[in-house]
Amino acid sequence: MKVGVLGIGITKFGEIWEEGLRELLLDAQLRALNDAKMEPKQIDALYTGNMCADSLSGQLHIGAMAAENLNLDKPSIRVEGACASGSLALRQGVHSIASGDADIVMVSGVEKMTDVSTEQVTTALMGAGDEELEGFNGLTFPGLYALLAKAYMHKYPALTRELLAEVSVKNHFHGARNPYAQFQNEINIDTVINATMVADPLTLFDCSPITDGAASIILASEATAKKLGTEVYITGSGLANDSLSLARRKSLTRLDAGHAAAQRAYKQAGITVKDINFAEVHDCFSIAEIYAVEALGFAKEGEAYKLYKDKQTYFDGKNPINTSGGLKACGHPVAATGVKQAVEATMQLRGEAGLRQVKGATTGVTYNVGGSGATACVHVFKKMK
Ligand code: COA
Repeated sequence: MKVGVLGIGITKFGEIWEEGLRELLLDAQLRALNDAKMEPKQIDALYTGNMCADSLSGQLHIGAMAAENLNLDKPSIRVEGACASGSLALRQGVHSIASGDADIVMVSGVEKMTDVSTEQVTTALMGAGDEELEGFNGLTFPGLYALLAKAYMHKYPALTRELLAEVSVKNHFHGARNPYAQFQNEINIDTVINATMVADPLTLFDCSPITDGAASIILASEATAKKLGTEVYITGSGLANDSLSLARRKSLTRLDAGHAAAQRAYKQAGITVKDINFAEVHDCFSIAEIYAVEALGFAKEGEAYKLYKDKQTYFDGKNPINTSGGLKACGHPVAATGVKQAVEATMQLRGEAGLRQVKGATTGVTYNVGGSGATACVHVFKKMK
């Protein structure tokens, strides 16, 4: 399977006062059209990831909004899969082209999260967990990932507190080299360890922030992409699911859905982990990146710490992870994240990633998770001449 990437667009991530939900989406859409040098009328269908607009902005019907923004009457659908909404929209876009239903598709992700209190956001995000088993009993997302961190670090004590903090230190290092990131400052291990405790062992600097932002990407069939001279293609898409609640998982020290999604995407793309030059992964909390690098096969279960000990995950290291700054430093406007990962992968493969450019990259993957691992979606991006 080959689906071409014609254009990418992304807004600044952060606390964006100047733009509402609609304007953020429009901003990303127009940037992608501009990048692809296309007119809105050339688009056959739109898929837009959004998780929280109904609970945080009182707005449903984001599919219609995405089409209205561009004055189109084309098929336009909102896709929701918690924090994986963006990559699920991407997968729908890929499938609508692969099925022959559409030739050119716009995929976007948008979230406006900073207009309400942290308590309201925390409650809305908890909708991604199991309401009966977890939310009703007072669990929050920092709490769920803290439980995962406790379970993992108990079983694998080689992942020390300091090495876990390295995840955030590296992601802030990359964020400092990314103009669209929410946090563009470097930090050190002490910053992470001595920050305010959010949910033991996770401090403020182990957590992704609350963020506004949007990203868009324009896809096309292989034939159209070739005609237009496109260099970047999506060659694999893998999706897997697991229980909403942690209580019903087979294991707490690996995310089975992540492993399955990766294997499905690699198989479709005909690659192995050895072919991958970089990965954009879901580090909603520092511990999530540890699970991600193991799910993608960069390390065996319990051994991800080695990559952080040897500082292999920097943009110029052996296994560059989250050159965008990840969710931690780039920010996490939840449904925009999956599309942002695709934008970053495309920038890397086009050689447009500036100070965080991975030299000579030809293959990259994106790994986006919904909830505490109930949905995992992986895409393979390849540069082709
Ligand atoms: N990392 C670093 N700094 C952060 C931060 C983060 N994750 N979150 C907030 N800050 C900073 C703010 O910039 C602000 O700094 P300033 O005083 O210099 O302006 C300060 O901390 C206070 O910010 P505030 O917005 O009041 O923080 P908060 O206490 O309301 O929220 C968290 C902090 C960690 C609770 C919130 O960011 C959060 O819930 N994150 C997780 C989101 C989540 O669960 N996403 C889904 C994952 S599946």
